[in-house]
Amino acid sequence: MKLKIIPEHIAIIMDGNGRWAEEHGKERIYGHQNGVEAVRSAIEGAGEAGVKFLTLYAFSTENWNRPKDEVDALMRLLVSAIQNDLDNLMTNQVRLQAIGNISQLPEVCQKELNDAMEKTKENSGLTVILALSYSGRWEIMNAVKRLISNNITENDVNENSFSMFLNTKNIPDPDILIRTGREYRISNFLLWQIAYTELFFSELLWPDFRKEHLFDIIKEYQTRQRRFGKTGKQIKEEN
Ligand code: IPE
Ligand code: IPE
Ligand code: MG
Repeated sequence: MKLKIIPEHIAIIMDGNGRWAEEHGKERIYGHQNGVEAVRSAIEGAGEAGVKFLTLYAFSTENWNRPKDEVDALMRLLVSAIQNDLDNLMTNQVRLQAIGNISQLPEVCQKELNDAMEKTKENSGLTVILALSYSGRWEIMNAVKRLISNNITENDVNENSFSMFLNTKNIPDPDILIRTGREYRISNFLLWQIAYTELFFSELLWPDFRKEHLFDIIKEYQTRQRRFGKTGKQIKEEN
């Protein structure tokens, strides 16, 4: 695929697994299981397109409030997906990272995740960031707590220094945010980081999402003019 402006960072709210399962007359977990194939395809597509960072919202702080059976199944799925796909990630030079309150995850998930992050850390291709037990408010609140405990004074707080206390330090803000699943909300994802992100809403339910859909969104992104508060004329003159 030939691309003009390659987005550096794409973030995805992978929503609609439960409804996909329902449409297939199955339990919700069947939707989550089938969502893994969509994750594989999105990672492959992002790599092929030359995207540098792909952040996937896999489990929110609020998702802990789901029935225990579903939460347990999601945690097991995380472990098995990492186990099954680690070789593939290595072959494709994918580096795995995570954001969120990882210490909340069951021990076995933490171990699998940490091992995979350690093993892939020198890979030079796409960085995939899993948002797990993550929420934007939790992250911002945590940053404030750490500012205080590090005795950072008022004069030293600016947008750059503040963002270094977020989980996403050293990761550029997303250029594109995609939400599948026919909902039009942010659901506590990357609140600080999406200040100027281009938003895309896909009518697909997540298990049906494939890299071709990602390519279509990237193409549409390339037709948009990002103005960051300036006028269209100014932007044209700059380019
Ligand atoms: C997204 O799909 C996956 C997670 C939140 C873990 P959902 O499970 O939210 O599916 P719907 O929105 O109920 O269809
Ligand atoms: C957002 O989906 C979280 C993830 C995709 C992990 P939800 O299904 O939890 O969002 P709401 O509850 O519909 O806003
Ligand atoms: Mg949902």
